[in-house]
Amino acid sequence: MNDIIVLSGKEPVASGKKRIVFEHPENTDYLIKVYRNHIKQAKQSLYQRHYNRYTYLSGFLREIREYILLKSDNQSPLTGHIPKIIGLIDTDLGLGLTVQKLVNNKGDLAVNLRELTRSQCLSQELQKKLDDFFYALVQSNIVIGDLNIRNIVLAYHDKEGYKFYLVDGLGDKTFIPMKRYCKTIRKSYKSKRIKIIGRRVKG
Ligand SMILES: Nc1ncnc2c1ncn2[C@@H]1O[C@H](COP(=O)(O)OP(=O)(O)OP(=O)(O)O)[C@@H](O)[C@H]1O
Ligand SMILES: [Mg+2]
Repeated sequence: MNDIIVLSGKEPVASGKKRIVFEHPENTDYLIKVYRNHIKQAKQSLYQRHYNRYTYLSGFLREIREYILLKSDNQSPLTGHIPKIIGLIDTDLGLGLTVQKLVNNKGDLAVNLRELTRSQCLSQELQKKLDDFFYALVQSNIVIGDLNIRNIVLAYHDKEGYKFYLVDGLGDKTFIPMKRYCKTIRKSYKSKRIKIIGRRVKG
């Protein structure tokens, strides 16, 4: 394996507001997520530099922290609904997070809930799977700071068939991590977001 993975010039397979997602050039089972706008630029204000540094660092730590906690609880209802985190990796676009690539039954990148419901309603079977996924989310102690329809993906699992996964949004986004300290706040955020997403996918 190369010391630094070269991603510049490669076509991303997906992207979000914070990160760009590439297929791992040396392992098609993995994706690499890199942050946009994290590299220090000469013209940035002091505030912007501090803000970028804080969001960059806290972004990685939040997700990895919650993932470690999930792995330490093999009874968690969310086990099996979160793609594997493989590790941190050096890329020419900065530090990347290598994760398991979720796919459909043909091996293509899995669709997120937004893409899935853009042109059609969910079938009854998928609606039931989504409800099961939401139930697992609420039951789990895992902190979720960003539950939105682009962070939920429908992917194929060899033994279990199609099911929903949370690909992003682990950990508390607020400066004082109240969801981490308070179960009521943690649960009520999830329930509120589930209601909003539920209404949205029903059109
Ligand atoms: N493990 C994965 N397997 C398949 N697709 C994925 C995976 N992780 C992310 N994706 C796809 O890539 C998109 C962007 O990834 P991600 O949500 O991690 O980026 P982000 O910039 O952190 O998101 P946000 O806009 O919520 O801040 C997701 O909406 C999803 O469609
Ligand atoms: Mg996202």
